[in-house]
Amino acid sequence: MRSTSLIAPSILSADFCRLGEEVDSVLAAGADMIHFDVMDNHYVPNLTVGPQICRAVTSRISAPVDVHLMTEPAESLVPAFAEAGAAWISFHFEASRHPDRTLQLIRSLGVKAGIALNPATPLGCLEHIMDRLDMILIMSVNPGFGGQQFIPEALNKLTRVRRMIDEGGYPIRLEVDGGVKIQNIGAIAAAGADTFVAGSAIFGAPSYGEVISAMRSELEKSVGCPEN
Ligand code: DX5
Ligand code: ZN
Repeated sequence: MRSTSLIAPSILSADFCRLGEEVDSVLAAGADMIHFDVMDNHYVPNLTVGPQICRAVTSRISAPVDVHLMTEPAESLVPAFAEAGAAWISFHFEASRHPDRTLQLIRSLGVKAGIALNPATPLGCLEHIMDRLDMILIMSVNPGFGGQQFIPEALNKLTRVRRMIDEGGYPIRLEVDGGVKIQNIGAIAAAGADTFVAGSAIFGAPSYGEVISAMRSELEKSVGCPEN
C-alpha cells in the first residue's frame, strides 16, 4: 500500500531574512516537513546553508527536517547535520565515494537515510542498496537552483522506482524534487511519488495555505487518501 503523501516545502525559495516565520507559516498552512537544501558551490554551483541554520530550524519546530545534501564529499557533513537534529539526510549517489558506507553512517546516527538521483543517474545504482534506504529522492531538475522546469522523463523514472520498491516490499519513501506545482503534482503522484518537495510553487505564492490545499486535493484525486 502506498504511504501517506507528504508535502515538503523547500526553504530555498523562502525569505531568508525571516526564515523562522517562513517555516512557521508553511507548517501552519499544512506542510508535513521542511526540506532543507544544502549546497556547497562545489558539487553544485550555488551556496546555501549549513548545520547551524539547520539547528536553528529544528529547535524552533517539531515537524521533521529533511536535509538534502548537494555537497561533496557528502559524508563529511553527515555527523554535523545529525547533531543539528535532521530527521532525514539524503545525499547524491555521485557525491560519495562509498555510498553504502555513507548510508550506514546516517542510520548509525539515528537519522533516516536517503539517496538522491540526478536526472541522468541510472537506476542501477539502487540495486544493491535497497535494504539500506529509507528514502529515494528523484531529482526532476538538475540540482543547484529553485524555480526550474520539471523534466518530464522523471515520471518514467518514478514509475520504475515505485515498481522496485513495491516488488521488493521495501519501506522506502519516494520523494520528488524540482519543478513540482499544482498543475503537475497529480501526474507525479500517479507515477509513484509519495513525498513532494516544492520550493517556488509554495514560497512564491501569496497564500501558502491555498497552494498546499490545492496540492492536497490534486493528490487525493490522483491516488486517493491512503488512510481511508
Ligand atoms: C534544487 C533543490 C530543490 C529546489 C526545488 O536543487 O534541491 O529542493 O528548492 O525548488 P522548486 O520547487 O522551485 O523547483
Ligand atoms: Zn532539494
